[in-house]
Amino acid sequence: MRFKELGKSGIKVSAIAVGSWALGGGPAWGDNDEKQSIAALHSAFDHGINLVDTAPTYGLGLSETIVGKALQGRRDKVVLATKCGLGLDKPGGTQRVNRGEYESIMSQVEESLTRLNTDYIDLYQIHWPDYLTPVDETMAALVKLKEQGKIRAIGVSNFDEALLAAAMDCGQIDCQQPQYSLLHTVNEPIMEFGAQRGVGVLSYGSLGSGVLSGKYKEKPVFPQGDARNAMYAPFFQEPMWTKITQLLDVLRQIAQAHEVPVGQVAINWSLKHPYMTAALVGVRTPEQAAQNAAAGDWELTDEEFDTINAAHAKIFGGGLLGKRATWPGVRRKKFKRD
Ligand SMILES: NC(=O)c1ccc[n+]([C@@H]2O[C@H](COP(=O)([O-])OP(=O)(O)OC[C@H]3O[C@@H](n4cnc5c(N)ncnc54)[C@H](OP(=O)(O)O)[C@@H]3O)[C@@H](O)[C@H]2O)c1
Repeated sequence: MRFKELGKSGIKVSAIAVGSWALGGGPAWGDNDEKQSIAALHSAFDHGINLVDTAPTYGLGLSETIVGKALQGRRDKVVLATKCGLGLDKPGGTQRVNRGEYESIMSQVEESLTRLNTDYIDLYQIHWPDYLTPVDETMAALVKLKEQGKIRAIGVSNFDEALLAAAMDCGQIDCQQPQYSLLHTVNEPIMEFGAQRGVGVLSYGSLGSGVLSGKYKEKPVFPQGDARNAMYAPFFQEPMWTKITQLLDVLRQIAQAHEVPVGQVAINWSLKHPYMTAALVGVRTPEQAAQNAAAGDWELTDEEFDTINAAHAKIFGGGLLGKRATWPGVRRKKFKRD
């Protein structure tokens, strides 16, 4: 496994990180068996992954609870990343809300610490921008939490350049979490923008929600409310579905040469970019975790990288893929607190 520093935090993280959205189950990913979910995380850790990512909204707290259980006896060996902002309306609540206000963040962190059964979070990330709260106010809370030792590093997710720059004016940002994969390249400019300023990248959706594993022989049908009918829907619709099939043929040849599963080629394509710190890959089973972790044991050659890029440009027509998150201007005010 390869390791890199997360921004300028001094925290060393594995090139492959494990995501736990699916482990929260619910409409987005369907039900899971808790024992299997914990075993999947243990498998990731046992195969060299040291960073796990979760969030209060994943399964309305269930993902954080499962991660907390998986961390027992291993807490000091794992870099724990969770998020704030997008959360529950109240402890144990069932409504999602996006709250970036100072007082709200201060109570959200306590709720996460309880579910995670720990007294510190290594990386605390603003999940999505909150239109209604100036980023200065959210950052004031995060800087305070860092001073208090409740979090070790601050991250943001789904930000644009202006919002990232505004957040950086208020405190040290060590990481951003954008969607990034062969199927969603539109965030490359902001990843580069951050990397030039010392902000690491923890990318999500590295397997395109599973399609880049190459496991689907036919276009799958998912239930209503599934993440693959929402955030990741374009991958399972034309024209992308057919183009992905063509791309997988190219990835498959490289996978065969290395005697590895196709998904590892897709993960290593992301990691070949210099601004990447770690590729987050979500898991459901111990086998998936072991398979994904093994991508950290080898790298694509420059020639293989060029082959994939040339095929990608031919199949998708060049240019960046996916829609960028854009925000209606940065809301800023001087936030002062005694
Ligand atoms: N910041 C944000 O807004 C945001 C948004 C989305 C995700 N995330 C984070 O990023 C993580 C990764 O993204 P993601 O989970 O959405 O997408 P992903 O990593 O692209 O795909 C994960 C899914 O692919 C399938 N899979 C994984 N390994 C496999 C393997 N070796 N072979 C075959 N199938 C495999 C599993 O689902 P099946 O078994 O059902 O096929 C798994 O749940 C999340 O878990 C979460 O922590 C953050």
